[in-house]
Amino acid sequence: MKIIARWQSKSEEETRKWGEKLAKDFLRPGDLVIVAGELGVGKTQLVKGIAKGLGIKEEVKSPSFSLVHEYRKEGFTFYHLDFYRLEKEEEVVDLGWEEYREDEKGIVVVEWGDKFPFLFSPPFFLVHLRYREEDTRDIEVYYDSCSG
Ligand SMILES: Nc1ncnc2c1ncn2[C@@H]1O[C@H](COP(=O)(O)OP(=O)(O)OP(=O)(O)O)[C@@H](O)[C@H]1O
Ligand SMILES: [Mg+2]
Repeated sequence: MKIIARWQSKSEEETRKWGEKLAKDFLRPGDLVIVAGELGVGKTQLVKGIAKGLGIKEEVKSPSFSLVHEYRKEGFTFYHLDFYRLEKEEEVVDLGWEEYREDEKGIVVVEWGDKFPFLFSPPFFLVHLRYREEDTRDIEVYYDSCSG
């Protein structure tokens, strides 16, 4: 796993900007992004930015209760998942996870995806957000290209 970007954000707007940049610089149909970080650190803000960077006009809201939101676009489908409420890997399977992952035109972003590390086989991006002070967050982006 190699680190490909290291950013600092001082506001939710800035976190969205970084999400936008992440999408524009790196993401292509077929990609998977795991978004990790403590409760309320700004994962959903980052995903809102990713969606904007992908050209999605609809408002992106946290799928904490519905578990997945799907945005069909010309050439790709954006899937926004949130595993916060899930406790077992079987629940992820029930959610239809395989189907999203196997969509070659899917761009899949999973909040709290790091809860089930064995579920994911590379390649994937891992974004880690960390509290620094007040509204400041450290954001690290990793890319895992193959197993091992
Ligand atoms: N630099 C920052 N980046 C992102 N959010 C920030 C920042 N500073 C303050 N905030 C605030 O932190 C909160 C982040 O909420 P958000 O829903 O994005 O977090 P989350 O990590 O998705 O939470 P959850 O763990 O519940 O899914 C918002 O209220 C936002 O205004
Ligand atoms: Mg969230």
